[in-house]
Amino acid sequence: MTPPRLEIRDLVRRFDGRTVVDHVSLSIAPGHVTCLLGPSGCGKSTTLRMISGVEMQDAGTIHVDGELVCDTVFRVPPERRSIGMMFQDFALFPHLSVGENVGFGLSGPGSERRARAKTLLDRVGLAHFIDEYPHQLSGGEQQRVALARALAPRPRIMLMDEPFSGLDNRLRDGIRDETLDLLKEEGTSVLLVTHEPEEAMRMADEIALMRDGRIVQQGAPYNIYNAPADKEAVAFFSDVNVLRGQVKGALTETPFGQFLAPGVPDGAEVEIVFRPQHVGIDFDRDGRGPNPTAMAGTPARGIVQRARFIGSESLVEFRMEHGGQVLKATVPNVFLPQPGRPLWLTIRRDRCFVFPAQG
Ligand SMILES: Nc1ncnc2c1ncn2[C@@H]1O[C@H](COP(=O)(O)OP(=O)(O)OP(=O)(O)O)[C@@H](O)[C@H]1O
Ligand SMILES: [Mg+2]
Repeated sequence: MTPPRLEIRDLVRRFDGRTVVDHVSLSIAPGHVTCLLGPSGCGKSTTLRMISGVEMQDAGTIHVDGELVCDTVFRVPPERRSIGMMFQDFALFPHLSVGENVGFGLSGPGSERRARAKTLLDRVGLAHFIDEYPHQLSGGEQQRVALARALAPRPRIMLMDEPFSGLDNRLRDGIRDETLDLLKEEGTSVLLVTHEPEEAMRMADEIALMRDGRIVQQGAPYNIYNAPADKEAVAFFSDVNVLRGQVKGALTETPFGQFLAPGVPDGAEVEIVFRPQHVGIDFDRDGRGPNPTAMAGTPARGIVQRARFIGSESLVEFRMEHGGQVLKATVPNVFLPQPGRPLWLTIRRDRCFVFPAQG
């Protein structure tokens, strides 16, 4: 069996007695893209810096293609790891032409280096800039040159730390897709750091969700989104609604009917977590709502507190009549109810997650 292209095991890094990377393990197959996704300060960049070799871990190992690259004793220097890097604050050399920038890390005769630079610049649509200088290029163009430069030496692994965050939204989508195509074409394995869930889902074969120095969940974007490990994992990808209830006989009561809480002891609290887009809205007909169904359970009535039109959908906040809880719903059209209006809410029961309550 071929070993993973990159494998890190139990990486630990402490600063001033504080553990900022706490036994992080990951492996990436050849040609695959893994996104390290997590809030600011959770240890993403530190993890990347250890893999690149510019920072030493306090414990743990790094293997590339099955070969030890670094443990706490042995250490291959950064420039011999066949690892390319692209960071948010990438800097092109201002005194070198675009072609010289791309060819910078290559060895061999000048004509060969230029040919490889030309191939990559072609690929990112910038071959005509080969003899220009960085200051003559736009931000997005410079980004593509930086990508070409990082890929020129054919690294086996590419580490990218929020490489697209300096670009405006519309430019970013295009460059992301183009970058991904190019990386896949070159068969490069990628570890991409981001704190934007949308970017992670767009780019990744696999997402590693990181929090407080640890990886809390790892898997395909679809699985992380649809089978989150805990409430924070749901909340990282979207707004959430939370209902609390006490368990009796593995069931908990809510305004929307009963929910199963298997394995939770009597008297314990659970949280039923669901996303605003899984809340349905129906009209009030003289105090009555829609009939209960297996899919949506029992409807419950709420009063519109606030409604905002946000483009492709509307965001509506309700105060529930029973319990007074505020719930959010997104309505995928231009329905914009007036505050004070009573409406009936249903929730997609198959899209609710039941977790033991914290705190
Ligand atoms: N050289 C250092 N000395 C002391 N503390 C450090 C050092 N480098 C990082 N830290 C701390 O380690 C923690 C993790 O930092 P890191 O840069 O890895 O976070 P991050 O997940 O990349 O965050 P962001 O999304 O904001 O870039 C932070 O609390 C940071 O202050
Ligand atoms: Mg960072």
